[in-house]
Amino acid sequence: MILSTGCAKKTSKVDIGIVLPTKDEPRWIQDETRFQDALKNTNYKVEILFSQGDPAKEKTNVETLISKGIKVLILCPQDATAAAAAADEAAKAGVKVISYDRLILGTPSVDYYVTFDSIEVGQKQGQYLVDHATGKNNPLYLYAGALSDNNSFLFFLGAWQVLQPKIADGTFVIANSDKAKALQNKKDLTRDEEASIIGQITTNWDFNTAKNLAEANLAVAPANLKGNVFILAPNDGTARAIADTFAADPAIKSYVITGQDAEKPSIQYIIDGKQSMTVFKDVRVLVKDAINVAITYLQGGTPESTKTYNNGAKDVPSKPTPVQVVDKNNVKQVLIDSGYYKESDFTWH
Ligand code: BGC
Repeated sequence: MILSTGCAKKTSKVDIGIVLPTKDEPRWIQDETRFQDALKNTNYKVEILFSQGDPAKEKTNVETLISKGIKVLILCPQDATAAAAAADEAAKAGVKVISYDRLILGTPSVDYYVTFDSIEVGQKQGQYLVDHATGKNNPLYLYAGALSDNNSFLFFLGAWQVLQPKIADGTFVIANSDKAKALQNKKDLTRDEEASIIGQITTNWDFNTAKNLAEANLAVAPANLKGNVFILAPNDGTARAIADTFAADPAIKSYVITGQDAEKPSIQYIIDGKQSMTVFKDVRVLVKDAINVAITYLQGGTPESTKTYNNGAKDVPSKPTPVQVVDKNNVKQVLIDSGYYKESDFTWH
């Protein structure tokens, strides 16, 4: 889709290519919309393509954009490691590569990483559960994102930093992962240890996988791991699937469940009391950062950075954006009063 035909730079070529992972999650449709809004008045030609969860399609998308003469690629990888080949091809063609939201791993061909503070996302999810738990032996169900997404490790790392001391002191009892239980006295996990836990509790960022895993966990949970429970769900889509599953179990009296992305369906869930919180990542800011970095490159400059992320091959410059907790107490103020969403998009009680 050609977003803008500015007058200053009217050529048939595309300047900036954007490749997003999938249209199956509201999160990435929202990124597309916010890019379209932000680019309406620029003089650069931009094209957005979706990979539909397929790393091979992603690579073809990148090749298509290279053939259209892009100078900057903004790529949100479906699979962090597989995307290295596409990034290498772009770099070979003289294209600047911006890793968008998810870090591309294992290649020096990444010039910049535009991201939220993903460790903070996990910390905020963990802290929300801690803040809502009283007494001891509260059942804690852990769920994570896809192993192929570096963010899943950052989210879990942040959550574990906050939850682990509260597991060690008996506030929480891990209900659904013997791998996590085996490591419950260790605050700083290695990547391999994290991978072993995530492998057991992964939703693969997929609603059905999340639902099936939650059902399987509940089917074998004894009575002392039901009642009033706490659930670390990695994002909104999986949170809704997991929340529905827990709500359908008569032995679950109440649940506190996390999320992230402030997806519209989850905002309705929060208003309805079916999801406890979400971590709001203002996509407008991410999009603005990505465009600013892209334009800096198009003008031959070097974008500002405040932090680096090691991707296994280099320290990639970055400037992570902070995130914010939203629950029913501040949802109106943070998302409606700020103009992020319209009040009429939701049913209020
Ligand atoms: C993103 C989340 C998103 C998840 C699933 C992560 O990399 O940071 O915002 O919910 O992928 O698409």
